[in-house]
Amino acid sequence: MTALAGRVALVTGASRGIGRVIADRLEEEGASVACLARSLAERRVERRLELPCDVTREEQVQRAVDRVCTELGVPHIVVNNAGAFLLKPLADTTRAEFGEQLDVNVVGPFLLLRSVLPRMPRDGSGHVVTIGSVVDHRPYPGNAAYGASKYGARGLHEVLAEELRGTRIRATLVSPGPTDTKVWDSLDPDSREDLPNRKDMLLPSDVADAVLYAVTRPPHVNIEWIRVMPTG
Ligand SMILES: NC(=O)c1ccc[n+]([C@@H]2O[C@H](COP(=O)([O-])OP(=O)(O)OC[C@H]3O[C@@H](n4cnc5c(N)ncnc54)[C@H](OP(=O)(O)O)[C@@H]3O)[C@@H](O)[C@H]2O)c1
Repeated sequence: MTALAGRVALVTGASRGIGRVIADRLEEEGASVACLARSLAERRVERRLELPCDVTREEQVQRAVDRVCTELGVPHIVVNNAGAFLLKPLADTTRAEFGEQLDVNVVGPFLLLRSVLPRMPRDGSGHVVTIGSVVDHRPYPGNAAYGASKYGARGLHEVLAEELRGTRIRATLVSPGPTDTKVWDSLDPDSREDLPNRKDMLLPSDVADAVLYAVTRPPHVNIEWIRVMPTG
């Protein structure tokens, strides 16, 4: 599989969960892939570069992007996937918790894009993918901070998409429904009426398939938004 041979991709939050599977799939399709996350140790294995990076820290983001450009080349594909997840009603959410959701889910993508976008190729190969959520279009109770942050991430994507018109860089928002990753572990959804059972959730590979679909369309096709939901 070589649809992305010669391309460089950068995926945030690629230490586990959805981001790691997206990185694996991009690599399988032939891309060189830079993986960023706080818990990753620096490591280079063939076409894969792993770097420690907190996406909320401007200097770390800048340093990581510089490193990726030097080591692998300027990214053609950027996937803003790193995310924090909190389920709490508004009145129980602390200022710090609210700020953390906004920091990771909105400020992080902003910092990365500000660093990488000016360098991205404008020959039809550039593509920015935002991993949103079903909550980026739909309010749910108990989602004050996470919901606000994902609406914000969608807002950033939509402004970006307008700013990119005429540049030949594409922008895609992928909005998944509940997906079986470690974010659900502490909530134990199988024991609760108000949350989906894990067996009914999407798999990380379902979300990665949507990303792959978007970034492997011909250059004249821009997939603006994909919402992926479990079959009800
Ligand atoms: N799971 C779901 O039900 C679901 C549904 C819809 C959308 N999503 C979205 O999908 C994305 C991935 O979620 P997931 O379920 O795969 O979560 P996950 O398993 O908790 O993975 C989150 C990833 O983000 C990284 N990360 C968190 N904070 C970071 C920071 N400050 N800087 C850099 N990396 C950071 C984590 O790595 P480190 O801890 O090593 O930094 C990890 O690699 C998120 O944007 C999430 O909102 C998830």
